[in-house]
Amino acid sequence: MITSSLKSRKVRNGAQPISALTAYDYPTARLLDESAVDILLVGDSLGMVVLGYPDTTHVTLDHMTHHISAVARGAQNALILGDLPYNTYNTPEQALQTAQALVAAGAQAVKLEGGVEKQAEIEAIIKAGIPVIGHLGMLPQSVVEEGGYKKKGKTEEQAMSLLASAKCLEVIGCTAIILESVVAKTAQHITDSINIPTIGIGCGRTTCDGEVAVITDLVGSYPWFVPPFATPRAEVAEATKKAVSEYIAHVGKPV
Ligand code: KIV
Repeated sequence: MITSSLKSRKVRNGAQPISALTAYDYPTARLLDESAVDILLVGDSLGMVVLGYPDTTHVTLDHMTHHISAVARGAQNALILGDLPYNTYNTPEQALQTAQALVAAGAQAVKLEGGVEKQAEIEAIIKAGIPVIGHLGMLPQSVVEEGGYKKKGKTEEQAMSLLASAKCLEVIGCTAIILESVVAKTAQHITDSINIPTIGIGCGRTTCDGEVAVITDLVGSYPWFVPPFATPRAEVAEATKKAVSEYIAHVGKPV
């Protein structure tokens, strides 16, 4: 999908809601692409659900480029969106270098966490011709500093600050904004107040112009932690254990 068509996909203008899912490897990317999902996000959630780290701050640029290139080999139509990992976009120059490395690996757009405070970094990337999707609300890369995963946009002050960041990201040319764990009323207000699409996770079902989900939450393949807002639609962990038990029981037997 080209990012210019993504940028105008506002539900209030009659557009189809945007569907986005994370993917970290070739077979998953290929399955999701064949299912016609709009965006494949190679998210730094890979740190937890693929690499077994406690949070996203352990993910490196090498991890990201390795997984983005696998996803790029599996996708034909979906937009491949790559996350700038923790501590790789502290200055505009560093942000641009990181974004260019993700694009060289196969990303067609990049995402980074933060609003007005990241304006210069985002502008540097956009000016170089790389589409950026913003990420506001609960920012997983700040979870250690903040002491946990906290819902955002609860107070008037938080809501105003999120809206100011969303408007800033729109003005500087972001293609869309991911809103994570923002209370429904605030998410809806942001969606109504800007002309680029919002893509929600943990913000309520109809408050944004699309949704993004972590693939392991959707298919139930990471049962050790499932966020409260997730809606699993398959039970891959259970199916895997059953297949493995049957395999073990049949090892060394004729059938
Ligand atoms: O890394 C990720 O999976 C994300 C989503 C939670 C939006 O950033």
